[in-house]
Amino acid sequence: MSSIVSSPIVLDGIAIAGQIKSELAAEVEAARERGYVPGLAVILVGEVPASQIYVRSKVKTCGELGIYSEMHTPPASVTTEELLALVASLNARENIDGILIQLPLPAHVDTSRLLEAVMPEKDVDGFHPVNAGRLLSGSPMEEILAPCTPAGIMEILRRSKIQIRGKRAVVIGRSNIVGKPAAAMLINASATVTVCHSQTADLGAITREADIVVAAIGKAGFVSAEMVKPGATIIDVGMNPISTEAELQKFFPGNATRRAAFEKRGSTLMGDVDPAAFAISGAYTPVPGGVGALTIAMLMANTVKAARLRRA
Ligand code: GUN
Repeated sequence: MSSIVSSPIVLDGIAIAGQIKSELAAEVEAARERGYVPGLAVILVGEVPASQIYVRSKVKTCGELGIYSEMHTPPASVTTEELLALVASLNARENIDGILIQLPLPAHVDTSRLLEAVMPEKDVDGFHPVNAGRLLSGSPMEEILAPCTPAGIMEILRRSKIQIRGKRAVVIGRSNIVGKPAAAMLINASATVTVCHSQTADLGAITREADIVVAAIGKAGFVSAEMVKPGATIIDVGMNPISTEAELQKFFPGNATRRAAFEKRGSTLMGDVDPAAFAISGAYTPVPGGVGALTIAMLMANTVKAARLRRA
């Protein structure tokens, strides 16, 4: 008897982000007709190249959707007190609906204190303890500001019609930005959720049980084919540059496109999942072009939502 092996479905984050952005552009237009323009303030401290790239992209997307945006770029020497004063002034501004403090901040800045100073109604990152608590309490997603990357994961699953209810989901990674809120969202969507991390014993035995694997550990190719149940859905949150020939050979043997990119730039971006694991999955998000594309779209969604909820 021959078994039928079907190829995995590629979950196209760029296409889904495009859908969300076009819905948002219409919502921004409707808000404008009702007399307001959603506004986002971004705080970028110092000159971290990766953060500068992310922030530029956030501001550019605001422009494309008709969302007002402004950037605040204090030097790396800025004090916690000065940043608290900036946040207080943005909290008080009527035309600012969202405040985003790009992380990581310099070590001398008290990050928790600053994140807690953003008023929860303007916390478009969903990092304030009040918003984290609302998510954990199971408030409907439409009514809360929840972290953008896990919210993007849920949009990918929902729009791709991947069933969550009753399924086993394993989240690898326990960060406040991705792993913990992703686990909360999956629980709220009635999955049975296990969270694994760097100290988990026999991690592969746990991930092999999963119908949905969310990989958010920041280690290139960490999730191997042996760790995945054939047919599972794999969501890859990792964004890791690989820059050695050995890694290229290990993860992308015979892949001419990857080799060309690698030779041109000296590195290529890959996620936390070995392509050999994608090959046996039922569906997966590629890197690049998967979850990453959703994060900015969900930030825009949170800004539009914050503007609407604050006026409700
Ligand atoms: N740095 C990396 N990811 C994020 C994010 O989602 N929000 C903010 N503010 N900073 C980040």
